[in-house]
Amino acid sequence: MDGNGRWAKRRFLPRKAGHREGVKTMRATVDECFALKIPYVTVYAFSTENRNRPTEEVNALFALMEEYFNEFLADMLQKNVRVVTMGDLSYFPQSLRTIIEEAKQKSKACSGGTLNIALNYGARNEILRAVNKAVQEGKAVDEERFARLLYTVDMPDPDLIVRTGGESRLSNFMLYQSAYSELFFVKTLWPAFGKKQLYEVLHEYAARDRRFGKVKS
Ligand code: FPP
Repeated sequence: MDGNGRWAKRRFLPRKAGHREGVKTMRATVDECFALKIPYVTVYAFSTENRNRPTEEVNALFALMEEYFNEFLADMLQKNVRVVTMGDLSYFPQSLRTIIEEAKQKSKACSGGTLNIALNYGARNEILRAVNKAVQEGKAVDEERFARLLYTVDMPDPDLIVRTGGESRLSNFMLYQSAYSELFFVKTLWPAFGKKQLYEVLHEYAARDRRFGKVKS
């Protein structure tokens, strides 16, 4: 969800206004994905690197999450969507953690889709965490076992990854799981990403030829 800051700057607004608009886009996009019966949706809401932003911006993001999470997560529960997270939640204020943990707990049995929220997430950290768990187990792991040591545990690898805002890089996102993901880098700044852009990406995805290293049969 890249481009919130630039979207705001172009309108002579503070960066946090871009994040606020970004939350609206996130909710609309997530709703549309589940309405389309996409079973797993991940949003990269806060990376380990985002912690290095000015305190004022980090606090503004926390405040936004505090403001919106209750309503957003209650809405997910109402739509029968299971909420999970990836990343180290211990970094977040206790009040926010309580809201998130409660949503995860309450939605555990929901079967209408899974929303995975990446919060204080970084793929290198995730991989190292899994390696250390494997070392503790004391025996060699195969791909299947290793995948279960990642935050994504029971989730399939992403079929499609979209990054808005014009940069063509993964920025520490699902580096292990994205081995065969279809990547889309779109110029639209996140707050301006709408149904039209989502459908364009989905149509192009549907037309791509996924061979997973094999030859076409
Ligand atoms: C990147 O834009 C976006 C983020 C660092 C934050 C994304 C977070 C949200 C949309 C809000 C999450 C809130 C909830 C309730 C889950 P940027 O600031 O890097 O934009 P720029 O590249 O234009 O500066």
